[in-house]
Amino acid sequence: MQGRNFSPFPVLKTQRLTLRQLSGGDENEILALRSDDEVNRYLGRNPARSIDDARNFIRAINESIEKNESIYWAVTLNGSDTLVGTICLYDFSIDNSKAEIGYELVPGFQGKGFMQEAAIKVIDYGIRGMGLRSIDACTHPGNGRSTRLLEKLGFKKDCSVNDGLVLFRLTREQEE
Ligand SMILES: CC(C)(COP(=O)(O)OP(=O)(O)OC[C@H]1O[C@@H](n2cnc3c(N)ncnc32)[C@H](O)[C@@H]1OP(=O)(O)O)[C@@H](O)C(=O)NCCC(=O)NCCS
Repeated sequence: MQGRNFSPFPVLKTQRLTLRQLSGGDENEILALRSDDEVNRYLGRNPARSIDDARNFIRAINESIEKNESIYWAVTLNGSDTLVGTICLYDFSIDNSKAEIGYELVPGFQGKGFMQEAAIKVIDYGIRGMGLRSIDACTHPGNGRSTRLLEKLGFKKDCSVNDGLVLFRLTREQEE
């Protein structure tokens, strides 16, 4: 599969994780994640406040996947269907050569290497599967965990700063 076609939904598996599509059944976990002060600390987003916010978010995400605009996975541990984090590729360039990556983990599941494991798989999907030439990540300079993760994944810091965020970039050449 090259290019943007997310139908059927690309379920991804790693040694410890299954990355699957979000569903209505994830609304409590999505509300908890998106209203968590620790998770939101560096994200500059409006915190979710109600179960309706979570439902609307899940609906919007799945509509965007249906239109092949972005791709967003629920991170779950093998053997359990409970969402413990999310990871996505979005903001694809028109020629489909570039995208941005985003990710978050429920605090109790951080510090175990789960996001690194998920991101390696998603990067492989983006670069080898979709044919992306580069993947960007914008992170707050104070977000040490995210910065450490990006460096471990091989992202290089770019000199540009966007709205106070640091841009990191992984290119296909770095991956090969
Ligand atoms: C960014 C975020 C996902 C990183 O989470 P994380 O748990 O640090 O990342 P990983 O899951 O890859 O785990 C790495 C940590 O697990 C440790 N670890 C434990 N077991 C491991 C294993 N089997 N394999 C790899 N690492 C392991 C690593 O040493 C590392 O810890 P350290 O950073 O203290 O050295 C998390 O901090 C988060 O959700 N933040 C809020 C949302 C956010 O800011 N997103 C970024 C937007 S740009």
